[in-house]
Amino acid sequence: MTTDYNTKYGNDLCLTDRHTQEFGYDNSQRVVAVANQKGGVGKTTTAINLATALTAVGRRVLIVDADAQGNASTGLGIAPSDRRQTTYDLLSGVDAIPMATAIPGLEIIPATVDLSGAEIELIDAEHRERRLKSALDRIATGYDLILIDCPPALGLVTLNALVAADEVLVPLQCEFFALEGLSLLLNTVERVRDTYNSELKVSGIVLTMFDKRNRLSREVVADVRDVMGDTVYDTVIPRNVRVSEAPSYGKPVMLHAFQSSGAQAYVHLAGEMLRRERDERPATETMKGAA
Ligand SMILES: Nc1ncnc2c1ncn2[C@@H]1O[C@H](COP(=O)(O)OP(=O)(O)OP(=O)(O)O)[C@@H](O)[C@H]1O
Ligand SMILES: [Mg+2]
Repeated sequence: MTTDYNTKYGNDLCLTDRHTQEFGYDNSQRVVAVANQKGGVGKTTTAINLATALTAVGRRVLIVDADAQGNASTGLGIAPSDRRQTTYDLLSGVDAIPMATAIPGLEIIPATVDLSGAEIELIDAEHRERRLKSALDRIATGYDLILIDCPPALGLVTLNALVAADEVLVPLQCEFFALEGLSLLLNTVERVRDTYNSELKVSGIVLTMFDKRNRLSREVVADVRDVMGDTVYDTVIPRNVRVSEAPSYGKPVMLHAFQSSGAQAYVHLAGEMLRRERDERPATETMKGAA
């Protein structure tokens, strides 16, 4: 069973990216905010594992840890004492140099608890909602993808992420209240689009912590697909103990237990993301790339 997953999803991802490189689709930098104001829905897990899967096919990825809990930093093995240049610096107008991680092609701007002060310190600051965007424009060049791991709130830090991003990726946990709060997030995205960032779009919803033995889980998947249609990724991330134990090893589950259903689902999600990227490019660009 595991081997089937592996072969299916592994090949899927490799083929998709080979296609992508051959046809020159991958020449622009995407900035994706991984956001949901609900806590514990899989934002950080999704950011880390999607990033790892994409580096495996040659993408250069930067994770911006925009949560004072610093879970993305911990999950990638960055000890608190090593977090010297952080997302807090970027919001304060000080440049930070991204750090290497143990994963080739994956860099991070880590976070510490200092970031919790930013919400208040920035209240009267000039261009307070554009701080992160301005900083990333200066320092984050040469990446194919920047993933911003947002905190579980719709405060000023998340606003900065939404202003800096081209897209929002929303993890939704397969639980009874999954859709609760989604309309608030979608309204926020709409307001940011109207006011600060006309290009912003919700590019995907990913269902997480799916339990196939649980009828409720299956109903939630059906409901969310009903309401949100094609925005929802086909890939559903299963609840898997390997995923939950990986952060304590300072590793993405992709490296901790590659054969696990959780890791393989993230490989599949990355493949789907690349396929969507390819399919969304205008035909003329496709032709140009191929020429
Ligand atoms: N597919 C999964 N299977 C099992 N456990 C999971 C899965 N995805 C995430 N978890 C666990 O659930 C918890 C919450 O996940 P995560 O930290 O990714 O959510 P989050 O939305 O970033 O949380 P927060 O809002 O606090 O930032 C973590 O302990 C994580 O290891
Ligand atoms: Mg998190």
